Amino acid sequence: MRGLSSGLGSVLAALACPVCSQSLAVSDAVPGALACPARHSFDLARSGYVSLVQGDAPDQPGDSPAMVRARADFLDAGHYWPIAQAVAASVVAGLASSSGPAGTGLAAPLVLDLAGGTGYYLAAVLDALSCARGLVLDRSPAAAKRAARCHPRAAAATADAWRPLPLRDSVVSHAISVFGPRGAVELARVTAPGGGLTVVTPGARHLTEVRAGGWLLGIGGEKEAKLDAALEGFELARRERLEHVARLDRRQATNLVMMGPNAFHTTRTAVDERLEGLSWPLATTVEVVVSRYRRRSERN
Ligand SMILES: C[S@@+](CC[C@H](N)C(=O)[O-])C[C@H]1O[C@@H](n2cnc3c(N)ncnc32)[C@H](O)[C@@H]1O
Ligand SMILES: [Zn+2]
Repeated sequence: MRGLSSGLGSVLAALACPVCSQSLAVSDAVPGALACPARHSFDLARSGYVSLVQGDAPDQPGDSPAMVRARADFLDAGHYWPIAQAVAASVVAGLASSSGPAGTGLAAPLVLDLAGGTGYYLAAVLDALSCARGLVLDRSPAAAKRAARCHPRAAAATADAWRPLPLRDSVVSHAISVFGPRGAVELARVTAPGGGLTVVTPGARHLTEVRAGGWLLGIGGEKEAKLDAALEGFELARRERLEHVARLDRRQATNLVMMGPNAFHTTRTAVDERLEGLSWPLATTVEVVVSRYRRRSERN
């Protein structure tokens, strides 16, 4: 029978039913599921994540299995490792500047990776914080499947970032949001007062050499002032701009194209053919902005 993974067991007290917001526990009535007192039940996948997407409205299906494979392969090549290190350092600094596990009342700090994909960034954070537990929420089942095994202290659930998050109020010590959708109101609700949020957004020159080929949809610089204004309930604590040059081989350039929305409009073979004329490795600018925020103490 599908049981609770140790990662999910350690975050269970923080989870909330996405339908009625009550607490979740292993169901007595439905095998291999979590349930709330009102008997809404949610399947535990064999691969270790729990499905907390409400109903079956797939208007935002999240990344396809092929996109997730491309992303995992790309991230494994290490081109974004400096970003992961910066995110980990940001969370460590954020937790150090808040008192205890950010006022959650829970035994260990909880780090939420919203739209966390394969859990690549969360794993780097947990490596840097031996006391913390982590949770990836992502709309994509293929991503959640990988994220569930990204780190021994991590758990994963499918959930929609644009809907009420399946978490109790103020349970998150620090949230991270890397290149993903984020709803400010829900992030503020689930983050403990004094807790933190680290957001990674693409800079204006991010991947500019690959974008010059006209292949990358959905990537563009995000204005920092707009980001700060959107994150009501949080105040900016630190901002840093990271830039390095990644030398991509043809496989990683193909992955870069196929791990984004381009994947809905083309095939790996078509991308690979278009890349044929370029000289390799392709020197590509990676430029991101890492912003760390503090959850304001007052609830608004
Ligand atoms: C650009 S990827 C970033 C993934 C991860 N943060 C990373 O950088 O490796 C965007 C992620 O958002 C997820 N996603 C898309 N729409 C979503 C939604 N409505 N709710 C939650 N996740 C969503 C996708 O499945 C994908 O994993
Ligand atoms: Zn319920």
